[in-house]
Amino acid sequence: MLSTKSFPVIEATLPIIAERISSITPNFYNRLFTAHPELLDGIFSRSNQKNGTQQQALAGSIAVFATYLVKYPNTTPETMLARVAHKHTSLGVVEEQYPIVYKHLFDAIAEDLGDALTPEIAEAWTEVYWLMAHALIKIEKGLYAQQANAEIYAPWKLVERTETGLDSVVFSFEPADETPVTVAKPGQFVSVRMPMADGIRQVRQYTLSNDIEHASRRTITVKLDVNGEFSPVIHNDLKIGDIVELSNPYGDLVVENDGSPLVIATAGIGCTPSAAALQTLAANGSNRKVTVLHADQEFSAWPLRDQMIESVSKLPEATISTWFERGELPEGLNAKAGYMDLTEALTEDAQVYLCGPLPFMNAVRNQALEAGVPAERIHYEVFGPDVWLAA
Ligand code: HEM
Repeated sequence: MLSTKSFPVIEATLPIIAERISSITPNFYNRLFTAHPELLDGIFSRSNQKNGTQQQALAGSIAVFATYLVKYPNTTPETMLARVAHKHTSLGVVEEQYPIVYKHLFDAIAEDLGDALTPEIAEAWTEVYWLMAHALIKIEKGLYAQQANAEIYAPWKLVERTETGLDSVVFSFEPADETPVTVAKPGQFVSVRMPMADGIRQVRQYTLSNDIEHASRRTITVKLDVNGEFSPVIHNDLKIGDIVELSNPYGDLVVENDGSPLVIATAGIGCTPSAAALQTLAANGSNRKVTVLHADQEFSAWPLRDQMIESVSKLPEATISTWFERGELPEGLNAKAGYMDLTEALTEDAQVYLCGPLPFMNAVRNQALEAGVPAERIHYEVFGPDVWLAA
């Protein structure tokens, strides 16, 4: 909770800080990477640095956190904190790094605001930073402690690769050393760290798409982004027998086993967490009512299609409906042309899980909210930094 001294200061300065975030952020990262170039080798993503909106996620989330403290003084934004903490732990962020980020962020704020930054304002925002930092550090320590090992990365060997959809590949790995393996939950992701052509390591998070409860196998599905940095390397360079570094599994978009009806709506490569959840439900002989909705550009573009259809056929209470933007519609699968309409599938007690590109998620999330599904029953995963946080 904010101190009574800081509360009015934060309330009064929030609009200024929120407005200045976009000019503070590049300065902050410049300072951070000049002082700590090692953070660009295997921790921060170079691609995200090139994208202004994505760059704002970190600093922007502090303004969102402050807004929350002012509006709901006795609570903290758990969903946002959990999302950031899972991302951080998958990258190996540790407590000792928080003072470093603090220094460079606040130096950037001081430079940006100049004389407008009185000691009183600086002190109040320092309080916000550390409230948020300590909340994150606490969750992150808990997440690290749940793992079967104390490593950030362990070496895994590629044992299988299979094309799926038009431009995606399923990669399966097995442990390449004796590091104990944490059993994952459906919906979780791992960080993959690999050297790029210039030797600098980059990291991306990929949802585990199959073999979830298999203790000695990790399977991810990667869509090729021809303009991206990472996916062309993993698609073109990774051969059977090659070793990559994988983190322990993290992520809290885990389908809770509370028995309530599930509505799982996905688009494109966003189907990976749902494919994992369906496979796990089928393997456990679940009788849960599950409505699977998937939208894709065309039938042949749908990654993990056969796996998902097979899982649905094994679940006695599951149905599937599909939408395709172009091409011939398949027989069955309740296929329709055009964009997804969620409304028919919604029931009052449903838990709704969404995953796909942002425009899709905005559209279907609004449909669910308009249909009266309470926000706490709508769960979502954004691939890439969550720009809703900074909104
Ligand atoms: C990502 C917030 C401290 C390293 C993020 C994201 C947020 C965030 C909102 C984006 C999450 C998403 O993907 O949706 C914060 C806040 C901090 C903090 C509020 C302090 C209170 C740190 C520290 C480090 C760190 C100390 C370690 C040097 C990272 C990295 C990413 C990230 C590497 C991923 C960015 C990328 O992919 O380029 N953080 N963070 N953060 N954070 Fe933090």
